[in-house]
Amino acid sequence: MSQRRQLSHDDQVVINPTFKANAPAQYARLRKMGPIHSAQFDLGLTGWLVVGHDLAKEALTHPALAKDSRLASEALTAAGYVLHDPAVGFGRQMLAVDPPDHTRLRRLVSAAFTPRRTALLAPRIEQIANDLIDAMPPAGELDLVESFNSPLPVTVIAELLGVPEDHRNDFRRWSSHALQLASPQHRTALAGLHELLGELIVRKRSTPEDDLLSALVAARDEDDGRLSEEELLGTAMLLVVAGHETTVNLLGNAFLALLLHPEQLHILRDEPELTAGAVEEFLRFDTSVEHATNRYAAEDLMLGGVSIPQGSVVVVALSSATHDTPQADGGAPTVLDVTRPNARHMSFGHGIHYCLGAPLARLEATIALRTLLSRLPELALAAPTDSLTWIGSGFMRGLLSLPVRYRKG
Ligand code: HEM
Repeated sequence: MSQRRQLSHDDQVVINPTFKANAPAQYARLRKMGPIHSAQFDLGLTGWLVVGHDLAKEALTHPALAKDSRLASEALTAAGYVLHDPAVGFGRQMLAVDPPDHTRLRRLVSAAFTPRRTALLAPRIEQIANDLIDAMPPAGELDLVESFNSPLPVTVIAELLGVPEDHRNDFRRWSSHALQLASPQHRTALAGLHELLGELIVRKRSTPEDDLLSALVAARDEDDGRLSEEELLGTAMLLVVAGHETTVNLLGNAFLALLLHPEQLHILRDEPELTAGAVEEFLRFDTSVEHATNRYAAEDLMLGGVSIPQGSVVVVALSSATHDTPQADGGAPTVLDVTRPNARHMSFGHGIHYCLGAPLARLEATIALRTLLSRLPELALAAPTDSLTWIGSGFMRGLLSLPVRYRKG
């Protein structure tokens, strides 16, 4: 078997805040060198980074690349990965387990996220978007992440799960830090989410309501084999974090893209019916989930001509894989075109862990973009592009803040 490109230690790609701030160009450089690279991730964890499209698909469906972090527990513990610590981490939930547990855990909540069920939320999402804009002064400057991109998805997922209003600010803060692995607040954020969701589970157990968390508690209590207590908490943690941090950052990346491409912004304002298609284009152009979550080698394997020993960490750079696809209309991957008829991407992943919340993410993003653009006829960046700060660790790509100048219509 040929060793197409076995990189030496000196070649190791280091994923740090500088890399992340310039990720699209970094991936373009790496793709020219090969589809897989030796890499150092947050907290010094080493492994393999897949950047090519075809190899990404292969890795995400490879039978020997599993989600069970116990396969790499030594390396993860040495690097201080608390995400995998049962005391504060995400515990057992569908994104951290393999079949048959994955099938069981995903099935428990999948009915709540079908396109049909999701569509019923549209009027409420529109109302949330409008309320947030109503709360803005008639004109001025504000941070769009703080005032709109973040509260919109957090309200939606909090209402679905049944998280009371007085806890939502904590939820926002904690889920954001929970995914920034190198942030000093990482452990406290995870512990905070743990505690709060634990308390809520107790509350829903004694006083069930018409929400997803109460339904999960009932599934746990009515049939002991369906869901363990740890899985109940893990699933709630996953839904809170996966259910909004992803959308917050997609919105930030999308608004920034529009502000940097005013001709595209004009097209979308003039033809709002293009918005749903434009959301696919934003997912393709600059998505929020830069990396899929870690995979672990259950046995020695070959991937892209490289030998991967058992216990290795393999990370698929979805944003890079997406930009490796020649577009059907021949457009360059880094050209933003909100009228692109079939923007294809791997932004919701591939294989059995394909994003469960994709219909909800699409709906929220479409409503958020359409509502904000129709109600703010003037919108401009209020800071130089090079002063914007990108999230520096973890698998998310997004802006910490997006200062804008605006006027309401
Ligand atoms: C723009 C928004 C979103 C993006 C880009 C996104 C992306 C992704 C990706 C790439 C995966 C696969 C991760 C992997 O294979 O390692 C995933 C899984 C998942 N997502 Fe999303 N997501 C978004 C919004 C949502 C929302 C709103 C929810 C709602 C609850 C959600 C729930 C989930 C869940 C539960 C999984 C795990 C599925 C499984 O393991 O079977 N996501 N998402």
